[in-house]
Amino acid sequence: MKHAIDIVTHCLTIEYKSCLHSDIDLDQKEDLVLDPMAGGGVVGDVCRRFGRKCLMYDINPVREDIIKHDLKQGIPKGAKNADFVFWDPPYYKIKEQEYGPQSISAPPKSEYMKVFENAAECFAENGIKKIALLMPDYYGKNPDENIFIDEYIAQFKKYGEWRILRRVHCPLATQQITAYTIATRLKTKTLSWLARDLIIFERVNEYYNESEMPRTGALAL
Ligand SMILES: C[S@@+](CC[C@H](N)C(=O)[O-])C[C@H]1O[C@@H](n2cnc3c(N)ncnc32)[C@H](O)[C@@H]1O
Repeated sequence: MKHAIDIVTHCLTIEYKSCLHSDIDLDQKEDLVLDPMAGGGVVGDVCRRFGRKCLMYDINPVREDIIKHDLKQGIPKGAKNADFVFWDPPYYKIKEQEYGPQSISAPPKSEYMKVFENAAECFAENGIKKIALLMPDYYGKNPDENIFIDEYIAQFKKYGEWRILRRVHCPLATQQITAYTIATRLKTKTLSWLARDLIIFERVNEYYNESEMPRTGALAL
């Protein structure tokens, strides 16, 4: 729970709230937010607080308001044309064991990165208007396994319909660095990562597409 509060404070509340009052104009009241990898459901809780409707999905749902769905199968019907996607995917191998074999993080790097390329196309073709992608740089045991945030951006750029509105830095509170992590870092002589970035993409083409189907099935949180 502390983790959730920290994420809300550092990533969603401070930055998201300031985004709402900035020129970014992420979304409006009553807008539909989609969280395709909802984890503990923080995004739904924040949506409830800010008066947004939210649909949450995960391959391993842990709450009743999160629906089981594999994003690799596409966007669920009720979530098509969502105004805003908050996407907090697994950070490659960081929690590989916890998320299990069906997670996008289980296969090797090339397959994992392909998920982002496919998602860029899938989100655009299903009428999604904006995406916030939360991601840190990743350092593997072998430098060939490193993945930098720019590589995720490159996957989105391949599709050509997404432009970046903003890159919001989301520092982690030092309280989130556990004694175990510090001990491991000292032992392995490696640095901890202390920040993630929230990359906000906007769909450039067909932004106001008259033919978009009306949404159905959103849970009014
Ligand atoms: C970083 S966590 C999300 C954390 C969440 N934002 C929170 O605050 O608790 C990533 C989530 O992605 C889910 N996931 C991994 N592969 C998936 C897939 N193919 N489809 C849907 N969810 C997936 C995992 O089960 C995990 O809950």
